[in-house]
Amino acid sequence: MDCLKYDVIIIGTGISGLFTALNIDKRKNILMLTKKALGSGSSELAQGGIVSCIDKDSHYKDTLIAGSYYNEKDAIITLQDESEDSINKLIELGVDFDKDESGNFLYTKEGGHSNARILHHKDATGKEIIRALTDKVRERKNIKVLENTSVIDILSKKEINAVISIGDSLKIFYAKSVVIATGGIGQVYKNTTNPLDITGDGIAIASRAGINICDMEFVQFHPTGMYSVDEERRTLISEAVRGEGAVLRNIKGERFMEKYHEMKELAPRDIVSISIFKELIETNSDYIFLDVTHLDKDFIKNRFPNIYEKCLSLGIDISKDYVKVSPTQHYLMGGIETNLNGRTNLNGIFACGECARTGVHGANRLASNSLLEGIVFANRISREINSISFSEASISKEDLEKDLKLYKGKFNNFNCILDLDDIKDNIKEIMEKYVGVIKNDENLTRSLDTINKIKQSLENNLKLSKDYFEVINIVTVSKLIIEGAIKRKENIGAHFKADLRRDCIVR
Ligand code: SIN
Repeated sequence: MDCLKYDVIIIGTGISGLFTALNIDKRKNILMLTKKALGSGSSELAQGGIVSCIDKDSHYKDTLIAGSYYNEKDAIITLQDESEDSINKLIELGVDFDKDESGNFLYTKEGGHSNARILHHKDATGKEIIRALTDKVRERKNIKVLENTSVIDILSKKEINAVISIGDSLKIFYAKSVVIATGGIGQVYKNTTNPLDITGDGIAIASRAGINICDMEFVQFHPTGMYSVDEERRTLISEAVRGEGAVLRNIKGERFMEKYHEMKELAPRDIVSISIFKELIETNSDYIFLDVTHLDKDFIKNRFPNIYEKCLSLGIDISKDYVKVSPTQHYLMGGIETNLNGRTNLNGIFACGECARTGVHGANRLASNSLLEGIVFANRISREINSISFSEASISKEDLEKDLKLYKGKFNNFNCILDLDDIKDNIKEIMEKYVGVIKNDENLTRSLDTINKIKQSLENNLKLSKDYFEVINIVTVSKLIIEGAIKRKENIGAHFKADLRRDCIVR
């Protein structure tokens, strides 16, 4: 059993966790905990790019339109005001964005954008950003990284917070400031673009600790996940491919987006996904096609090398063949409620990145706003933490033993007799089938009933293990999403119930 005190503990090592760490005063001792390896998670899979607010007025308007005007306006303004500095910091840290022959940045477009304003590194922007940030974190003497370590709970105290984790053993770490940056919830669904370890842990932990969670019903489905029946993570075909001219066709080979929105394939993501879903029902199919065959082959290979190669490895030459795609869970707009400085309602506990709900995205995120949100609000958290005095609280042996005994006490005399894999598969099926792009109250209510029963049986069979916590987190997050969806009585953004009226999806 270890017990250690740090100035700051950061849970998660994606873009926002890494950026927070790198902007904190080097005199502060930081512990970063990650479930897998340093840098693993959704950020490194980001393809399209990072928005730059080179044209603030139209970016503001596009963000609001995409978000169905449910966004917090001051959060968007904060995002815009600090975008240039934050992106410059990324570049100073070594991130290489694509430029033309004269050294000017190249910008691309995605759904919902009225201008080309997205910086990118070919079709692997996230990978490039994570490469640069993890290199820098490894160089920093004040940052310790513990890999393969799952945080299972946070105990909030007056002067200091305790973070309970399981790596090779159960450990408690203490810090005045704790930053939750654990990413999204993708693996709650059967079909997702998110990696296998993205199970909503930060949100579930926060909810157990009494932190406010909101807007969980706003789950974003990316229109073009590559269709497959058995992959644990679906390959994303970036929206930037449509930004460069790709079109969508139904299984009869007909373009259909003009029926639904004047921006056609480049309408906001929720509108494209709902339109595809309707088209799937009308044509009785499980997929549509993405067509890039009219684009120049060399351009495709150079601009989207990873997508091109991935498809080729599956026997699809996208310069000649259509690609089967369908809406796939991709992002969560809701999550841990924070103020503009990343603070939650509990003292010393912050959240940033996908697990946080800052209000920037409203009811549906504008493409490529997420990486920017991740760094801008991470930077604001680091400023906030830099202004906090060093902790005077000392942890005595008695404190530690008391915390440990209290925590472990919940698990005494229990032995989990449940099949955790089976429960996980069951939840993922329910979420995919009944809590997807188009929902209805009858199915939601039935799903909630089942999930409540599963949660109860898990709570009756507590187990102090990583696997157990991953499953209870999946169940907790699913429950929060369904409860949010039942409660919201109007169709807005990514929240769409067939039994509510939305006469027209054009906005
Ligand atoms: C994509 O490349 O289509 C994803 C970008 C995003 O989620 O913003």
